[in-house]
Amino acid sequence: MSTHRVLMVCLGNICRSPMAEGILKHKAQILGLDLFIDSAGTSNWHQGEKPDGRAMEEMWVNGIDISDQRSRQFSASDFDEFDYIMVMDSSNQTNVLAVARNENDKSKVHLMLDFGNEVKGKAVPDPYYDDGFGRVYDLLDYACDAFLKELK
Ligand code: 4NP
Repeated sequence: MSTHRVLMVCLGNICRSPMAEGILKHKAQILGLDLFIDSAGTSNWHQGEKPDGRAMEEMWVNGIDISDQRSRQFSASDFDEFDYIMVMDSSNQTNVLAVARNENDKSKVHLMLDFGNEVKGKAVPDPYYDDGFGRVYDLLDYACDAFLKELK
């Protein structure tokens, strides 16, 4: 398998996409897969910040340390750097597609939960206000497994 380049995208890049990055990196490492994985936010609200403490805690409980991640904003150049751009919800999708320069850019954008039959078309809910980090972990874990299955 050649190196696939995967970018996880949410709004703040401090909750959902850092968790998705950590989960997929962890799975790739266990499976010995050569993947390049990063994450970004459509906003610059938390630029340079660590993931939300609740996201780090949820990941830590599941054996994954994401404390070295720092938030950054998504930009058009990410379309050149990545093959798969995974968005967490339809608002992220709208914001990312607004920056796309052509059809090739657009074709790289996927709703994260479109990988896996059980959750197709659904959004990864924003846990920032409702503390739903456990549910987010479970959804991302499922979708990352489904994505890796599709890559093979
Ligand atoms: P994320 O969650 O998009 O999953 O990182 C959020 C983080 C911060 C805010 C909203 C959502 N905020 O309003 O600052």
